Amino acid sequence: MSDIKVRKCLFPAAGYGTRFLPATKAMPKEMLPIVNKPLIQYGVEEALEAGMSQIGFILGRGKRAIADHFDISYELEHQILGTSKEKYLTDIRKVIDSSQFIFMRQREMLGLGHAILTGEPMIGNEPFAVILADDLCSVPDDKSDRALSQLVELYDKYQCCIVAIEEVDAADTASYGIISGEEVAEGIYDVSDMVEKPQPEDAPTNMAIIGRYILTPDIFDYLRETKPGAGGEIQITDALRQVAKEKRVIAVKFKGRRFDCGSVEGFVEATNYYFESGDWKL
Ligand code: UTP
Repeated sequence: MSDIKVRKCLFPAAGYGTRFLPATKAMPKEMLPIVNKPLIQYGVEEALEAGMSQIGFILGRGKRAIADHFDISYELEHQILGTSKEKYLTDIRKVIDSSQFIFMRQREMLGLGHAILTGEPMIGNEPFAVILADDLCSVPDDKSDRALSQLVELYDKYQCCIVAIEEVDAADTASYGIISGEEVAEGIYDVSDMVEKPQPEDAPTNMAIIGRYILTPDIFDYLRETKPGAGGEIQITDALRQVAKEKRVIAVKFKGRRFDCGSVEGFVEATNYYFESGDWKL
């Protein structure tokens, strides 16, 4: 599989978004806007920038707004065609025209690992990316490419599963998958172990996996073997832990900022950052 490019990106978006209730009662959290653009659109733009145009959404009940967002709205198009307001649709039209979308349904919320397994029919036997759209990754200060492109570059070199990591406060490890491993180049780790949501006293490090992955298709076999873990859910971290033991997983401290927009604090921080930096207009 050595020269296969990463062409497909999965967006697991079936979760309930309980941390953002009541806003997420009838609206997907992925549709929350940072300034004027929904989180999921930032994610799809990042995937396109990284060379992926086949976009798969794993949706659950109450997530139809995501499918509608990436479709034509004939009434709206008709209303604003030729008016000064047409420019507001330029970005989303570009995204729609550059991508192919596939929608899959996760009927039961059995965990992120299970959501990724739901995407297998679309992925087949090739490497693919995963974006969790509520983790918003900014353009780095030097204006180079965002996190997913950085992961693709490493995939081209290492040809194995790649995860994005960042250092978090030691007190917060119970919210993340945490890795340990040997640093093989600056900010790049050969993962030896990983654990999902450890309490601070049990965490091997403070290096947390964030919502950007490149996975090789053998991950599906590992996921099928993975038993429910933290929170009774099938965790991608547990499957990747096994891959790290039997094969190889690389973790990278990516360039750019990451905002946890699934939490109110992260969402507000991201809104202020994007508004002030002007990055929402990109
Ligand atoms: P989270 O742990 O953030 O859960 O899931 P959540 O339900 O979205 O949000 P909270 O914690 O209740 O506020 C991480 C990612 O995995 C997806 C979610 O949509 C989110 O992008 N996910 C999780 C699924 O698609 N299916 C699942 O069964 C679980």
